[in-house]
Amino acid sequence: MRAEQHLAHELDELAGRHLRRVRRTIGGMQGATVRVGGSEVLCLCSNNYLGLADDARLRDAATAALAEAGSGAGASPLISGHMELHERLERAIAQWQGCEAALVFGSGYHANIGVLAALLRAGDEVFSDELNHASLIDGCRLSRADVRVYRHLDTSDLERQLATSRARRRLIVTDSVFSMDGDRAPLADIVALAERHDAWIMIDEAHAAGVFGDTGAGLAEATGLGGRITVRMGTLGKALGSYGAFVAGSRALIELLVNRARAYVYSTALPPPVIAAAEAAVAIVRADPARREALWGNARRLHQGLERAGIAMQPFASPIVPLVVGEAADALSVAESALARGVLAPAIRPPTVPQGTARLRLTPIATHTAEQIDRAVSVLAGAMQDTRA
Ligand SMILES: Cc1ncc(COP(=O)(O)O)c(C=O)c1O
Repeated sequence: MRAEQHLAHELDELAGRHLRRVRRTIGGMQGATVRVGGSEVLCLCSNNYLGLADDARLRDAATAALAEAGSGAGASPLISGHMELHERLERAIAQWQGCEAALVFGSGYHANIGVLAALLRAGDEVFSDELNHASLIDGCRLSRADVRVYRHLDTSDLERQLATSRARRRLIVTDSVFSMDGDRAPLADIVALAERHDAWIMIDEAHAAGVFGDTGAGLAEATGLGGRITVRMGTLGKALGSYGAFVAGSRALIELLVNRARAYVYSTALPPPVIAAAEAAVAIVRADPARREALWGNARRLHQGLERAGIAMQPFASPIVPLVVGEAADALSVAESALARGVLAPAIRPPTVPQGTARLRLTPIATHTAEQIDRAVSVLAGAMQDTRA
């Protein structure tokens, strides 16, 4: 068989299990609504939580940076790519996060694989929540440390595993807000365990930065535990409406990453417009709690509306509101029916979520109106009924 035939066979096999993925092309900007195939639909699936991706202040900052500093950084940061804009953004992030220093990575995926592979090596042990994001899982694998997976949010299981560890270095790694369920890591218990068992902690605030805490710094800020967490990672492409990611912590941590994180050292620095947009976003996020309040209000309204429509929902924990359907084919059918009625929320299927828990991962944003949220509730309730009928 030729290569193409092998590949086509693999794709057919995915399609046969309702697991083949296709992209949908979006027109216009990312906002409360987006254009799909010429029609305007409600977007209920992006991570643009605060509605900043199309904000005029970010666009103006990006345009000004394009004019002043050009379209590309031209090199990796240790060569000549670390520009004044990057330096300024890192200082602003360190201040925002209340840490000594911060480092900007090309993406959240880069940050996670970069940090884990830099901090751990063979013989170390990493304790990882079973529902951690794929980039953390890949970082654990890349580090060559022994990976101990603990049951989701289960600190008794984590403690059992920590108690038997004899490794040189122990690191507990967890999403702070879980990307597909929206539930939150029990940070206070994790910190207590880490201190008792001499372990370090890394948290991934991809879905908490901009969303939790008085200044939107994340769940570390909201819980007051930031000073006891070794590594905080967050993204700039979700609530912050730009692209890239940051790691915040001690100066020693950041200096070590500058030396050892291969995903940082061997990759071109982010382009000036992206950095300038992120800097504008950090200032807005810190100063404007009203956006966070609007986001939370919309998320609560959506969750309550779906519950009132008779849909069994997980407890409300964050602006990620999963509508768990079950089988992949059924989730696809609910998503198609919702789109036909003007709501975009694609089906999330294995391996992104465990078998039998395919879902629509609903994420309202700050700039949706109450009327749009109510419309989404009635569309989704109708789509669930269509599928179950
Ligand atoms: C929890 C989590 N961590 C990391 C990432 C990766 O971030 P990025 O999209 O910036 O690569 C994502 C999502 O993409 C995520 O959901």
